Amino acid sequence: MTISSHHEIPAGWQAAIPRLLTETVLREVELHSEIGSTNDRALVIAASHPSEKLPCLIWAHRQHAGRGRGSNSWWAQSGALTFTILLDALALPLPETRWPLLSLTTGLAVRAALARYCPGFDVAIKWPNDVYIQGKKICGILVEVPPVRNGRVVVGIGVNVNNSFEAAPLELKSKAWSLSDACGESVDVPELLLDLVGHLHEHWQALSEGAEWLPRLWDQECLLRGRMVKHVMGDRVTHGECLGVDVEGCLLLETDQGVRRILGGVIESWH
Ligand code: BTN
Repeated sequence: MTISSHHEIPAGWQAAIPRLLTETVLREVELHSEIGSTNDRALVIAASHPSEKLPCLIWAHRQHAGRGRGSNSWWAQSGALTFTILLDALALPLPETRWPLLSLTTGLAVRAALARYCPGFDVAIKWPNDVYIQGKKICGILVEVPPVRNGRVVVGIGVNVNNSFEAAPLELKSKAWSLSDACGESVDVPELLLDLVGHLHEHWQALSEGAEWLPRLWDQECLLRGRMVKHVMGDRVTHGECLGVDVEGCLLLETDQGVRRILGGVIESWH
């Protein structure tokens, strides 16, 4: 266990570390009062971190240089849940060919943990790496592979928990919110993290075992289904109606040229 600095970190967060180490599969926990990016930290230690200390959690109270997919940034204020798990994917065992499915699988795990807090609300996966509640973004996921390619994978997750968007500019407020905004009361961050780590383990295990319920669920819980989507991959722009997500994790778009399977790129807009 490492705690980079004691000031500012809520006492309950530090108290959760022994539980994270005994009640979950985590073998090491780093808790930082402030860090640039938890993913960057995981990428740095990925090459040399001892196998017996994996999975390792890097958890930050504040993050000032958080990264998202593409040019997205993810700046986390106090009250947010910001962490990365450094995972030995090959030991899971999860072959490299299935690593592209880690984003969707992780999204489903987050969805399962969040849904409990707001029963009756629509909690959905926005392909390939976000979780939305009632159409507003609440969580972003960034899966990265360290350059050493030693079988390890970095899974970064940012969840807006108690960092309310009530006072945010209207433009932002209409697109994103926090779990506390959604459920109307503040949420115990360490409890959510403990629960989340359990769901992550269960879902990654299911991916490793090829469980059939996973692809069924990422298709069923697809936020974009039935919507007109604009997809961009480099210079190539595709417009089409989303038909869901297939077993290989590809987004299916019905276009003028027929059904297209989308593997990468970004969804620029949808309605
Ligand atoms: C996105 O919305 O494009 C993904 C955002 C991912 C943010 C998380 S916060 C924890 C981890 N550390 C980072 O620098 N990014 C991820």
